[in-house]
Amino acid sequence: MHETPASPIDYARYDRIRPIRWTGETLELLDQRGLPAAVGYVACTTSNDVAAAIHALAVRGAPAIGIAAAWGTVLAARAIDAADGSSALALIEPALQRLNAARPTAVNLAWALARMRRALAGAGSDWRGVLEREARAIEAEDLAANRRMGELGASLMAPGSGVLTHCNTGSLATAGFGTALGVIRAGVAQGRIGKVFAGETRPWMQGSRLTVWELQQDGIDATLIADAAASHLMQGGQVDWVVVGADRICANGDVANKIGTYQLAIAARFHGRKFMVVAPSSTVDMDTASGDLIEIEERDPGELLGVGGKRIVAEGISAWNPVFDVTPAALIDAIVTEKGIVEHPDEASMRALFADA
Ligand code: MRU
Repeated sequence: MHETPASPIDYARYDRIRPIRWTGETLELLDQRGLPAAVGYVACTTSNDVAAAIHALAVRGAPAIGIAAAWGTVLAARAIDAADGSSALALIEPALQRLNAARPTAVNLAWALARMRRALAGAGSDWRGVLEREARAIEAEDLAANRRMGELGASLMAPGSGVLTHCNTGSLATAGFGTALGVIRAGVAQGRIGKVFAGETRPWMQGSRLTVWELQQDGIDATLIADAAASHLMQGGQVDWVVVGADRICANGDVANKIGTYQLAIAARFHGRKFMVVAPSSTVDMDTASGDLIEIEERDPGELLGVGGKRIVAEGISAWNPVFDVTPAALIDAIVTEKGIVEHPDEASMRALFADA
């Protein structure tokens, strides 16, 4: 670990975007499909609206879809009538199942719904209020976890380090501050990071549409690269750390994350660069033993066949579009969570930190 600089992080300066807003009546989601050209919110008034927004990627990123699902549960409660939490449980379950089915890979979605179910099971006549307070707590805890992970992850970096990140793991993908982008925000604020590179993240372009825009909002310079330029960049010596988020971390330390993460880990190991995964404990799934057991979401092959809504590939060509991959634990130098850092993760080191998860 490198000694922590004295100056605290100015969160107001380095974290301005919020993707999820609860008005008390409506869930407003910053529509990530239109960014950065159009900054607008989708208004959800039912849990089915929330499930559709998660499926369509209006809201995306593992922690953000968990938080959105928690608020979706609050909206689902409006449509049912029950005297207390335990009698509401069975009535609300179909809505929770629809929320859970919206995306399969990120465990945060099932984790948040399980937490909402537990809160409901113990609630009395104020069960709607209990659900609302639980959703608010999930959101607040995520922000606090991200800030903690930012400081922990940055502490591993020597001053002036070069970093490469993938996908979008920032405020847009969380309650705020971000996971991997939280480490980058903290590292820049503390002078530990001298240069930030972001991969464009084909085919949905989370890197080029979201990450570099989000960093620009906070005055952090980032250089965009084609995903295919990553090995060349590492070979040139400009990257000390590859820093990414996660959608599910298994009991043996294998990590599912945005497609392309695995090849970055291979390239980092080949070039002697370090590879860091940053995720809250809500992304850790100790019930899944290893990465081969994770369901990998496949999305519309059409995402690969066109650019900006215009088809560029000849008719009759087929495409395969898995949107996550699994990085084996052996390629990971550090998993950073709000509970602490697991260096060189394996089954034993994961169990040591997440025994009761
Ligand atoms: O398909 P997406 O954009 O939801 O995928 C997001 C990612 O893979 C992120 O890296 C991950 O969810 C971590 S976000 C803090």
